[in-house]
Amino acid sequence: MELLDEQRILNGLPAVVRGQLHALSVLREVDSTNRFLLEAEGPGGAGIQACVAETQTAGRGRRGRSWVSPFGANLYLSVSRSFSMQSESLQGLSLTVGVAVARAMRSIDVQGIALKWPNDIQLGGKKLGGILLEMSGGSGGPWRVVTGIGVNIHMPEDGGANIDQPWTDLASHGAHPGRNRLASRLLTEVIIAGGEFIETGFEAFRREWELLDALHDREVMLQGDASSRRGIARGVDATGALLLEVDGQRERIVSGDISVREAR
Ligand code: BTN
Repeated sequence: MELLDEQRILNGLPAVVRGQLHALSVLREVDSTNRFLLEAEGPGGAGIQACVAETQTAGRGRRGRSWVSPFGANLYLSVSRSFSMQSESLQGLSLTVGVAVARAMRSIDVQGIALKWPNDIQLGGKKLGGILLEMSGGSGGPWRVVTGIGVNIHMPEDGGANIDQPWTDLASHGAHPGRNRLASRLLTEVIIAGGEFIETGFEAFRREWELLDALHDREVMLQGDASSRRGIARGVDATGALLLEVDGQRERIVSGDISVREAR
């Protein structure tokens, strides 16, 4: 098992990225790396901060789910940064992070990553990881956005038994990148993509996102809290909303509360 090492992670960052990173916290145990950074600093605070942990005791997933986070097995990483934007732009930012994760994976020779709207990272049709954006601030000032990324590297069997959907890990695909190297690569791509997003917005990432789209032209089931319906996924628009074709009409799906499941 390769334990996380602050110096090794920092050494793996290009100078241009390292210069932007205000602080990196490498923790043995934390409830949630997202929670840690959300409370580390108020909105508008200085620079980019990052946090990785060996284990999370209350790792957070989307829609109130928990994120299985056994010790030393996978990667649990969060990055916080200020963005001056409308809250509607958050969807595009979260899809942009998916593109950054795919770029990081490609850079360590993991091919075949796909993204399932909005934020699942897939490999071989199963969930390899996930992305959770949380934010504070706004109301006139900049948003402090915490981007949390979980990637399964070598999930122990008893951990995997607690995951409620088909999952995979890098080891099952013969990839053994080293946790520090993977942390450096993800940090690098997320920080670079965040800078590009500030300059250009999601539009500049849209085509790349669509090339990674696991659902493109497939029949899907959209599940809301109260109802579900079937349609064909037709990519995303310039804001990152899913375009769902229902009875020949395209609808924009924006709600973060809705999950997409492929029809049986
Ligand atoms: C999902 O449900 O797909 C999103 C999972 C996000 C998990 C990561 S692990 C690091 C960060 N800290 C958290 O508590 N959650 C995110």
